[in-house]
Amino acid sequence: MPKGFAASNAGKIAKRLGSVSGGKVLDVGTAGGGFIDTLMRTLKSYDSFVGVDYCASSTSKAEMESAKKRFEGKPVRFFEMNAEDLKFENASFDTACMSHSLHHLAKIDRVLAEMKRVLKSGGNFILQECYCDGDQTEAQKADELEHEWEARIDSLLGVTHNKTLTKQRIMDIAGSLKLSELEVFDSAHPIDCLFCKRRNECKDPKNQATLHNSIKDIDDAAKRIENQSDPEIRNRLIEEGKRIKETIEASGSAPASYLFIIGRT
Ligand SMILES: C[S@@+](CC[C@H](N)C(=O)[O-])C[C@H]1O[C@@H](n2cnc3c(N)ncnc32)[C@H](O)[C@@H]1O
Repeated sequence: MPKGFAASNAGKIAKRLGSVSGGKVLDVGTAGGGFIDTLMRTLKSYDSFVGVDYCASSTSKAEMESAKKRFEGKPVRFFEMNAEDLKFENASFDTACMSHSLHHLAKIDRVLAEMKRVLKSGGNFILQECYCDGDQTEAQKADELEHEWEARIDSLLGVTHNKTLTKQRIMDIAGSLKLSELEVFDSAHPIDCLFCKRRNECKDPKNQATLHNSIKDIDDAAKRIENQSDPEIRNRLIEEGKRIKETIEASGSAPASYLFIIGRT
């Protein structure tokens, strides 16, 4: 397990999910359906999953297409859809969730209202979102630097990607949902570490695989702005990308801490 995993709340979150009967589950901002995988492994039970994403970038479009293949034969359907206007009946889901997508939304209130509309009264609302502040390691801070840089690249290309939220902002948003039986877990490690075959590598945030993947992510993101017409903006971002690579090589990289919020409507 990565260093500090046992002391994190990831195990508690997995245990809590193990008490949830998911029924028909909606995953908003699903991208490649990564959170559907997590829920399939952890929920006490489920009937089916629906993943929606408006696929504004070529990356999320490709991720959804590969997810459709990956989940073939399983009770999972994917729709390209703007969550600001969900094409589902009122009260048609037992569980509505969103993982690491809150800061990608142009209209947070609108999307959350839509999720509540399609959720049955008493349904489960699950929100998982990384935050930018708090007591994070140097490797996590390096990951956050990279994330914010990629958010600026997305924004330049017209894809909404806001700055990572603070813990307080996420809590305020969760409060606005007026959920009952609200529980909040704060974790420095993803639940998926429990199921990851390569989790031992992450004991060291400077392990070769992590460094390689982070550097590749930066190189791929830099390629996306190759045709950006303003050379000054492009060169500035590319230079920043180089500095972030150096930071990652010095500190390693590890996923940011996140809040996991669960309650009922
Ligand atoms: C970081 S990704 C999600 C990751 C995924 N949920 C996971 O946990 O693996 C954020 C996604 O939110 C999607 N998104 C942003 N605004 C949206 C909207 N209004 N409707 C649907 N999807 C949206 C983006 O297209 C992007 O794929």
